[in-house]
Amino acid sequence: VDHIRQFDRQASRYQDRKIIQSRVARHLVQKSPYRGRSILDLGAGSGEVFRNIDWPIERFYAADASRQMLDLHPPCTRKILCNFDLPSCFRELERLPIDQIFASSSLQWSRDLEATLRRIASLRLPTSLAIFTASTFKTVHQLANISSPIYEKGEVIRLIEQFFHGEWEVREYKLFFPEKIEAFRYIKESGVSQGVKRLSYREMRELIDNYPHPYLEFEVLFMWSDLSKL
Ligand SMILES: C[S@@+](CC[C@H](N)C(=O)[O-])C[C@H]1O[C@@H](n2cnc3c(N)ncnc32)[C@H](O)[C@@H]1O
Repeated sequence: VDHIRQFDRQASRYQDRKIIQSRVARHLVQKSPYRGRSILDLGAGSGEVFRNIDWPIERFYAADASRQMLDLHPPCTRKILCNFDLPSCFRELERLPIDQIFASSSLQWSRDLEATLRRIASLRLPTSLAIFTASTFKTVHQLANISSPIYEKGEVIRLIEQFFHGEWEVREYKLFFPEKIEAFRYIKESGVSQGVKRLSYREMRELIDNYPHPYLEFEVLFMWSDLSKL
């Protein structure tokens, strides 16, 4: 799968490019109404969720499809190489003695978000999710007249409400760059960039010239499932 290879390739650079993801993970963990002892993190990457857990835990399972990303995950965690698009991944996860699930900045990559959310919900555990929406890089996409490869907010909310009872929240983030060219470099490396990558040199130049902001836009949907309604 293309984007997973991209994560493999970019793993080391992810470290200094994950500013927004770090803030997202912090908010997701801090607002979690439940403090599990044995936690599963789906699309764990280099460990942003783990780093924000500030209560005693017994086990932390870091599941990710990219071995290079898992190599960056703190060594004291248990690593599971698995692709959450596949039912076989969930058969493996089902057997783990876990009592809480997190997925931060990862599920927007799901090939079939509905199927993935259904599988997560069927584990019947307290669940906290943060999913980037199509309004991420909104102005860039509008100017270039390209559509986002990830799900619209409305669609994510509809699916969340179909499978979970809980509280959700939409947050917008801005990431500032001293130079516009840096912002576009960031987009190219972010994975949410197929459309932008396909632009010709001239189209790209024009897009950068016309881009009105010193920042990039991000939109994230958070959900914390309600424990009493599992
Ligand atoms: C933007 S990173 C977020 C990592 C971490 N959760 C954080 O908050 O920094 C997205 C992660 O999802 C993983 N990922 C993407 N698609 C996946 C899939 N189908 N199955 C498992 N992991 C996946 C990537 O390898 C990457 O580590």
